[in-house]
Amino acid sequence: MRRPLVVGNWKMNLSGVEGVALVESFLRAIYLVDGVDVVICPSHVALQSLWISVRDTPLALGAQDVFWEHHGAFTGKVSACMLRQAGVTYCIVGHSETRGRFGKLDVPESTLSTFAESDETVNLKIRSLVYQGIAPILCVGETLAEREAGRTDEVVLGQLAGALHGIDPDEIRHLVVAYEPVWAIGTGKTCDAAEAQRVCALIRSGLDKVAPGFGNDIRVLYGGSVKGANSKELFRQPDIDGGLVGGASLNAKEFGEIVRCAA
Ligand code: PGA
Repeated sequence: MRRPLVVGNWKMNLSGVEGVALVESFLRAIYLVDGVDVVICPSHVALQSLWISVRDTPLALGAQDVFWEHHGAFTGKVSACMLRQAGVTYCIVGHSETRGRFGKLDVPESTLSTFAESDETVNLKIRSLVYQGIAPILCVGETLAEREAGRTDEVVLGQLAGALHGIDPDEIRHLVVAYEPVWAIGTGKTCDAAEAQRVCALIRSGLDKVAPGFGNDIRVLYGGSVKGANSKELFRQPDIDGGLVGGASLNAKEFGEIVRCAA
């Protein structure tokens, strides 16, 4: 039986002080809610403040990205070891925004290459997280152009296979996969629940090929404009174990409603 999971990705929002205040109101909003794991992913600089405020609560702390080397001359990077020491137990990897693919292409092409994470770097990040005992939240998903070209399944399965290539199945027991269609992120356009279910089931069968015997235990989330109003229908689907939530996780009441639906 897979336990539902809701992850709040705060992206480049909220200082430590603002984050602590949001967590306090969020904890009031989910008072007595049980049967669901909840993770919040603040910016790296807010992790320390948030760790102090979540450590005696049911909430877990996640990071939004990681660098795969353990230490050394890597200016601006943060290692999995540093994240573990900061109290992080989950970490997002391969988000479409770190892959340089945005729902709204509102940055110049020249800027996109700055973000462009590849399946190879995602693979390295997963290995370093697993080594530190941090659960990777691997994001996969197609752009609108790829969907319209009928390439959704090929793109999603390709990202999955690339990210997990050569990794011992036993090491990815705590992996979480999030299906995040790029065109649904931050756009207000949610993927139809039946289609999200179809792709999440496809991911699960893909997982079973890469990590035989584990596909049924790994949690698969849906992400992309999840809100209180649409989460019930999404989370009712048999292969959707919860959500990866961006914008709505910045509002305690809305995020609370999503968590209640997952529970
Ligand atoms: P959104 O973002 O909920 O704002 O669409 C989801 C995500 O990027 O993980």
